[in-house]
Amino acid sequence: MKILITGGAGFIGSALVRFLMGSQLARVVNVDALTYAGNLEALPGLDDDPGYHFEHVDIGDRAAVERVFRVHKPDAVMHLAAESHVDRSILGPEAFVQTNVVGTQNLLEVAREYWQGLADQPDQRQQSPRERFRFHHISTDEVFGDLPLDAPAFTETTPYAPSSPYAASKAASDHLVRAWHRTYGLPVVITNCSNNYGPYQFPEKLIPLMILNAAAGKPLPVYGDGGQIRDWLHVEDHAKALWTVLQHGEVGETYNIGGDAERTNLDVVHTICDLLTELRPMAEDVRRQTNLETNTPTHYRNLIQSVTDRPGHDRRYAIDSRRIQRELGWRPRHTFESGLRKTVQWYLEHTEWVNRVQSGEYRQWLEQNYASR
Ligand code: NAD
Ligand code: TYD
Repeated sequence: MKILITGGAGFIGSALVRFLMGSQLARVVNVDALTYAGNLEALPGLDDDPGYHFEHVDIGDRAAVERVFRVHKPDAVMHLAAESHVDRSILGPEAFVQTNVVGTQNLLEVAREYWQGLADQPDQRQQSPRERFRFHHISTDEVFGDLPLDAPAFTETTPYAPSSPYAASKAASDHLVRAWHRTYGLPVVITNCSNNYGPYQFPEKLIPLMILNAAAGKPLPVYGDGGQIRDWLHVEDHAKALWTVLQHGEVGETYNIGGDAERTNLDVVHTICDLLTELRPMAEDVRRQTNLETNTPTHYRNLIQSVTDRPGHDRRYAIDSRRIQRELGWRPRHTFESGLRKTVQWYLEHTEWVNRVQSGEYRQWLEQNYASR
């Protein structure tokens, strides 16, 4: 099988490519515009692999996307390319509408024309290429909006109520994908996943930001009271779930993916601090530099600072993933504790990668985002 993956240089896309190539499950065409969030160093050792191709293409560029389909003739599309950070969407929503909505519409149109042109006679695999084709759209639990503390977790039928420009743009793209199925018959599957964490996540998101700031003795900016709840899933478990849905999911259907690991932000930050205390006790110079006047100066928790809350901040997300577990037999392998320990270790061991992604643009973003809080 040859899979066209969009956003394969991003955090989740690269985990998916590493999983598929590492297990020799499929050949991969990686279509990525390499925005600030795309990083080919997350795909070590693939350049010379004949089963892997990289296409430096923006999904909004119709002619370029058409060429990619014509040249590579994929059996399926897994669409992950997106602008993905809520705080950036608040400061500049245009790019989110452009890539997540317009880009997805463009990709859908090219995929539809390509799919309609595929042979509809069964081949040696007992199915025609047209029957076999899939368009898998990767989405988020944020489309469901703010979940009251006493409400049951989101299911596949929870109504959409996005809060942020990011969530609204992802909701729009989910609607487009469903419309392309209903109107044109395009064989789509959709997945809505909870917050991911793991290696190669760009350090603008909560977990890598907190690990790296703490390790450097910098403040840990917790928005508001830190009581917001997210449901965390290790990215390798997500990659396996995506492959399961592509292989066995029912066309036209949606599957929620989550880790059954609801934690408040403050809980997450405390756990990171405690893991760091164990794995990398605070160095004397960092301790002095941070001027911590406390009885437990070695403890990273002292770096936590409450900062102005995110506008429109959703209090809680939680995913009910019983459908994918029951119907497709997927289950997460990591607990939050085992996955987070592995992740903290990974960031401590990959300082070169970290230094390279913390470029001038990254520093500018931090200044812009956190100066306003
Ligand atoms: P990411 O920001 O790390 O990566 C996005 C990738 O898309 C980057 O490689 C970037 O270069 C590429 N890209 C951006 N705009 C593009 C364009 N116009 N054309 C081609 N490529 C472009 O994102 P991620 O965290 O890996 O998320 C991947 C997908 O999963 C997104 O669709 C996101 O909405 C969804 N998702 C993310 C999470 C999460 O916790 N990170 C959870 C659920 C769903
Ligand atoms: P984030 O990683 O941006 O993911 P999302 O907004 O998609 O859930 O944020 C996770 C949670 O952590 C969210 O409630 C916002 C909060 N947060 C902070 O408190 N401080 C920070 O510096 C960041 C980046 C996030």
